[in-house]
Amino acid sequence: MKILVIGAGAREHALLKGLSADPVRPELHVAPGNAGMAGTATIHDVPVTDAGGLVTLAREVAADLVVIGPEAPLVAGVADELRAEGFAVFGPSAKAARLEGSKAFAKDVMAAAGVRTARARQLAPGAEAEIESALDEFGPTWVVKDDGLAGGKGVVVTPDRAVARAHAEEVLAAGNPVLFESFLAGPEVSLFCLVDGETVVPLLPAQDHKRAYDHDKGPNTGGMGAYCPLPWLPEDGVQRIVDEVCRPVAAEMVRRGEPYSGLLYAGLAWGPEGPAVVEFNARFGDPETQAVLSLLKTPLAGLLDAVARGKLAEHPALEWEDGAAVTVVLAAEDYPAGPRKGDAISGLPEDTADAYVLHAGTAAGSADAGSGAEAGAGSAAGAEAGAGSAAPEFVSAGGRVLSVVGKGADLAEARERAYSLLEGIELNGSFYRHDIGAAALEGRISL
Ligand code: GLY
Repeated sequence: MKILVIGAGAREHALLKGLSADPVRPELHVAPGNAGMAGTATIHDVPVTDAGGLVTLAREVAADLVVIGPEAPLVAGVADELRAEGFAVFGPSAKAARLEGSKAFAKDVMAAAGVRTARARQLAPGAEAEIESALDEFGPTWVVKDDGLAGGKGVVVTPDRAVARAHAEEVLAAGNPVLFESFLAGPEVSLFCLVDGETVVPLLPAQDHKRAYDHDKGPNTGGMGAYCPLPWLPEDGVQRIVDEVCRPVAAEMVRRGEPYSGLLYAGLAWGPEGPAVVEFNARFGDPETQAVLSLLKTPLAGLLDAVARGKLAEHPALEWEDGAAVTVVLAAEDYPAGPRKGDAISGLPEDTADAYVLHAGTAAGSADAGSGAEAGAGSAAGAEAGAGSAAPEFVSAGGRVLSVVGKGADLAEARERAYSLLEGIELNGSFYRHDIGAAALEGRISL
């Protein structure tokens, strides 16, 4: 079986790792991938939204299955173009991907499906004069969203009216609609469901940590870490989300003649009445996927292939390892504002079954990967990458550089394994959160 994965982040590295463990031993290809994936897949330099280039590549490698990781190609219709050429594709059509691509569309579907979500008002570019009345109508706390694809970074949640106003102005000035929403209280849940028409199969529930710094301080990011499963979720929690959210939405998409096929990611807040939708994404979440897939025992290639071929209903029930998993993101200095790139990464450990590193923003090092030597002065990275020494194997090339995954019998052990692996990794100026999963472990999350 030949599989082409589209994407370049740690989510795609986690998918490749899962696929490579499938007993069918698939031949793996990735586009555009990253340097850290080289041992797992053949890397092809084709951008994620180059539909023509990806169709050509899928033909060249004779892909039996194409798995699309990020939202941009889905919203741009890459799945449609590949399907039109006869490829089996894991990922929704452009029409169905509007559940992520247009928050207004998602609200419309939820209203029709009777799904609990925040009240919302959208302002189109040019409607700057209505910002004040929208601020009066919602908040505090204000939730202001860029109604375009913003990689999880377009949302501002703030008690400060001036900050909310500034974000709304910025989104409109960029030519995107802005969405004001009522604030949904309660702990957040990420539930990923495989969806094939009206068939909905949930994966383990996870929780992301979106703020950059410990104790949920700092700007929103694409996600700084995650853990799964959720010890504080009621026993029927996943079933309730499936019954009250994911299945009604899947049925509504079928009713509209736009059936969903792929991964539907429900981002929820668990409030007094139960789960309410904060947002949908049309793909696996990053970094939750890195934790969730680490516990999946069911062979991944066969599972994704069943979804792609409309056979999810016939697939056996999923099997999971006991225990817990944690992923912690190592981010570059000044992420998310303007991440610093080109620094040497050193101290990368050998993978074990229970703790390993997935690559996101990395590139192969070269002899002139100079800033690592300069900026790393005083660190192990600096010493290793300094003048006269060999080029580093990897350098930083993005905001979220690595995801470290730890698995264990429980959350405490999973955390311990992830953090002890992280301690040995050197990347000048980098940072990570120290409290991934800590609130759950310490029993500080209650419903
Ligand atoms: N975990 C946030 C996202 O994938 O958008």
